[in-house]
Amino acid sequence: MKIGIIGGTGGMGKGFALRWCVNHDVLIGSRDAIRAAQTALEYSKNATELYGSVNGKITGNDNVAIAKESDVLVLSIPYENIDSTCPAILSNTKDSCIVISPIVPITKTNSGFEFISFIEKKPSAFEMVQKHMKDKTKLVAAFHTVSEKKLVDPNLVLDFDIFICGDDQKAIETVSGLVKEIKNLRPLILGPGSLSYLAEVATPILLNIMIKNKMKNPGLKIV
Ligand SMILES: NC(=O)c1ccc[n+]([C@@H]2O[C@H](COP(=O)([O-])OP(=O)(O)OC[C@H]3O[C@@H](n4cnc5c(N)ncnc54)[C@H](OP(=O)(O)O)[C@@H]3O)[C@@H](O)[C@H]2O)c1
Repeated sequence: MKIGIIGGTGGMGKGFALRWCVNHDVLIGSRDAIRAAQTALEYSKNATELYGSVNGKITGNDNVAIAKESDVLVLSIPYENIDSTCPAILSNTKDSCIVISPIVPITKTNSGFEFISFIEKKPSAFEMVQKHMKDKTKLVAAFHTVSEKKLVDPNLVLDFDIFICGDDQKAIETVSGLVKEIKNLRPLILGPGSLSYLAEVATPILLNIMIKNKMKNPGLKIV
């Protein structure tokens, strides 16, 4: 499978690349093709140091170029940039491409981390992305509550749950499979895409708890 990561030069992008290159080709996307290629080279070196050899290749190109090739595409960009980034990218995907949104509408205020969609009365990240999708059922929300600090280190066992929302069973199964490929992460279906704001809002809850209780990059687990 070819997994493209829009904004793959960021922290989450690195984590996804280092976890999934074990079994898949990973395409790093950036607004800048040169930065993408350099970053892909750096991640490839990291992967060789970590694993010796892997089955997938990590390469880089501009966001639109990688969107055209990807079987699964992760939108690893900030909430604020969805409307400026998605039209060019999502109009260029294959019809069968499954799109993953880990995007959290989050901001820091005097009170702590807050959910932009509530305080500014804006759509959830899922809703905002979905309006740009050719096939709206191919969007799956996941990975909102795993910290990039933990994702980037494959030596860490992440004994966490990942909430999944979507409207297409096959797309949900594909994304659940990718969650399971990251050792000890457990995919839990939360509901249809319309409920994905519940998964997104878990992140500011987690971050505020982390700070107030002096915890280090916690995750969530349903017991
Ligand atoms: N960080 C976490 O622990 C964490 C956890 C769960 C979910 N998330 C969510 O995952 C997503 C990615 O997180 P992140 O921490 O990796 O984000 P990030 O580092 O802030 O940004 C990721 C990439 O987005 C691209 N980008 C930045 N500004 C842009 C703009 N104006 N237009 C288009 N692209 C732009 C950049 O790539 P180029 O400059 O190379 O184009 C950047 O490397 C976010 O939506 C976040 O809410 C993050």
